[in-house]
Amino acid sequence: MRVLNIGSLNIDYVYSVDHIILPGETEDTGSRNVFLGGKGINQSCAVAKAGVEVWHGGLIGEEGKMFLDACDEYGVNRTYIRTVEGPNGHTVIQIDKNAQNSILLFGGANQRFTKDFIDEILANFTSQDILLLQNEVNLLAYMVDRAYEKGMTIVLNPSPFNDKLKSVDMGKVSIFILNEVEGFQLTGENDPDKILQKMHQLYPNARIMLTLGKDGAVYFDGEQKVYQPIFPVQAVDTTAAGDTFTGYFLAGLVEGLPIPEILKMSAKASSICVTRPGAVPSVPYRAEVMEALK
Ligand code: RIB
Repeated sequence: MRVLNIGSLNIDYVYSVDHIILPGETEDTGSRNVFLGGKGINQSCAVAKAGVEVWHGGLIGEEGKMFLDACDEYGVNRTYIRTVEGPNGHTVIQIDKNAQNSILLFGGANQRFTKDFIDEILANFTSQDILLLQNEVNLLAYMVDRAYEKGMTIVLNPSPFNDKLKSVDMGKVSIFILNEVEGFQLTGENDPDKILQKMHQLYPNARIMLTLGKDGAVYFDGEQKVYQPIFPVQAVDTTAAGDTFTGYFLAGLVEGLPIPEILKMSAKASSICVTRPGAVPSVPYRAEVMEALK
């Protein structure tokens, strides 16, 4: 069973601010840092750092070569990352004094997938493999349809949640990994138990991994429901906390670990991630996570 993740690669321009800027306001920033990010590559790096082999499919612009170096450093297979003309995907991220963020996303190269390129990537994978997806690339619905035809296990993190998701046949998804805001957007429910119930009603064959911010995370597959609280820490930057959780969760599933163990490991990895600035570089390695769990 191999993991293929087709997803975004963004250059994150991160500004520390007193508060998230208000409409019409001009605010001085304390610092600017540039990090590698993008939900896609963050999650691939998390899978790889958790110790599971992962192939990343993605598109970078001419200034995106550092992503290839990062893949080599962290052990992400980059055979299916191509360079296209034009700018890389990038974000402008504000981090306020409480470590909360707001993200402005420019899709760039991430929005330049073609059906031919998707077919070319998927041709190398089979029904034994897993396809992980988020919503920062174009042709998401096509990826889901083609992967489903091949019998692949489709894992969807429907983030960021927007109208583009309406074209995706969610009934083809085997595992949803989502937060409570996305849960509300998909089901109209606010209460975590109701979100899970409704998701199960809508997609009875899917497993649901619902993250709840400071309230932890809860897994439900129709029979087993497992709750995991957070490990409290002093956060400096919450960017990529969800991606770290997703990558570790998937790695645990691939390894066949029991769900409670997977949730504990994923929550611990996320708690370490938020104590560090940046996205890709803030994802901890498995050894560190296991050591911290002792
Ligand atoms: O999930 C965090 C990521 O969202 C950031 O790295 C940023 O690039 C945005 O895609």
